[in-house]
Amino acid sequence: MIEKLFSFIPQKLAGFMEKHLKKIPYVKKRVDKELNKVIKDLETSLKPYKDVFNSNTHLPREPFKKEDILEQIIEMNTREEDKWKDGYVSGAVYHGNQEHIEFLNKVYAVTSQINPLHSDLWPSASRFEAEIIGMTATMLSSKKTEDPICGTVTSGGTESILLAMKTYRDFTRVNKNIKNPELIVPETAHAAFDKACQYFNIKMQHIRVNKNFQADISQVKKAINKNTIAIVGSAPSFPHGTIDPIEEMSAIAMEHNIGFHTDACLGGFVLPFAEKLGFDVPLFDFRLKGVTSMSADTHKYGYAAKGTSVVMYRGEELRHFQYYTATDWPGGLYFSPTFAGSRPGALSAACWASLLSIGEKGYLDATRKIMDTANKIKQGICDIPELYILGKPLWVIAFGSKKLNIYRVLDEMTQKGWSLNGLHKPSCVHIAITLLHTREGVCQRFVDDLKLAVERVKTTPDTKKGMAPVYGMAATIPARGIVSDILKKYLDTYYKT
Ligand SMILES: Cc1ncc(COP(=O)(O)O)c(C=O)c1O
Repeated sequence: MIEKLFSFIPQKLAGFMEKHLKKIPYVKKRVDKELNKVIKDLETSLKPYKDVFNSNTHLPREPFKKEDILEQIIEMNTREEDKWKDGYVSGAVYHGNQEHIEFLNKVYAVTSQINPLHSDLWPSASRFEAEIIGMTATMLSSKKTEDPICGTVTSGGTESILLAMKTYRDFTRVNKNIKNPELIVPETAHAAFDKACQYFNIKMQHIRVNKNFQADISQVKKAINKNTIAIVGSAPSFPHGTIDPIEEMSAIAMEHNIGFHTDACLGGFVLPFAEKLGFDVPLFDFRLKGVTSMSADTHKYGYAAKGTSVVMYRGEELRHFQYYTATDWPGGLYFSPTFAGSRPGALSAACWASLLSIGEKGYLDATRKIMDTANKIKQGICDIPELYILGKPLWVIAFGSKKLNIYRVLDEMTQKGWSLNGLHKPSCVHIAITLLHTREGVCQRFVDDLKLAVERVKTTPDTKKGMAPVYGMAATIPARGIVSDILKKYLDTYYKT
């Protein structure tokens, strides 16, 4: 109620009112009550092992038996596997085939001691990483441009993005004397760009998207100024799976001598194959002269184990601004390419093994299956009159409703075992199709469950339980501070024994 009242008030004023309103005892009591309720719900789902195992709050005086430790790990893993292996989860686990997982695990087991920081000890790490970058860059058309494309292996999409943004900040400071850096980013781009701006003191210039959820070109042009360090486009975006007009955006960037980053974390290992299979894929990679950097996640549709991604640059000069070197440290000459110092070389080994063992043929097959399943799911959603699909997605499909509270539909799907992503601005839910959804019966089960979920929301009263009330709060400006508190408390809970 309170939230609704404030939804039309400008952000700054709403923030001010929230701060002062929360001091009124009645309001404070209500807010605290709501907050505690939500946190209690979250705690139950985050700490299911509290009643199953003893908590370890200090080192055991006597070491545990290895078989007992393994037993606990296997028990937790089995319970958790049950959640994703039958294809109930959006994104998260992208391959999931047991044989593939076991192969990666074998590679990890052999290479677990490798640290690329000590490349003199483990030159194999250099081979793994150089070849991962080479294979990824070639897939993204590095051989179709005269410029040398180079890169580094990172720990995931967020690190790739943070590093690229830091690189542009430092490059433009030296080469253009930009002291107050600004970044132009479509509002649908991943939150990692906001994180980069916060961490590296860059001003974020958010660009609105059009009715198809693609960056509005006229807004991009308007936002450019002498402090712009780079422009960003997604291929595709996390929320709605739509590809920004990267050809036009990167051309504008080049015209103004500004860097352009294509975030292909989600699509890097799908779009090149979808294009080969004849799907309508616009240009997004290094074939576009204006694209000066890219990110592509091997730990998503590259089907590697969690913990690797690739960030790529047009030319080594740019990559140099990512590297860190220390020449006056008493610990010796120190240099490292990414944020971490010591790094898990075994993850690079497993990533390398994943790319080689799947090969172009495997990625083509996987993409074909994913696209076929996505088409069926899109049709299933279109057949439900209360729902509509946002934009024109390929395989990351967001859907909303003009008639129902879509978060209640999300909660109903959760009750049925599905783990989908709730999104907002506008309110919708998405499913990122993975290989697990291409298995026999999964797609039909999704469509059937979705129909039932919609029917139930239509015919039952709102109990105000689950995520629907939290999203309801986040949708209103004054309540965002409260939601932020909830999220921080959630993280606190994560670290509680
Ligand atoms: C488009 C896009 N960019 C970046 C990221 C961030 O990747 P990560 O979660 O690996 O840090 C994601 C994650 O889903 C994404 O979809």
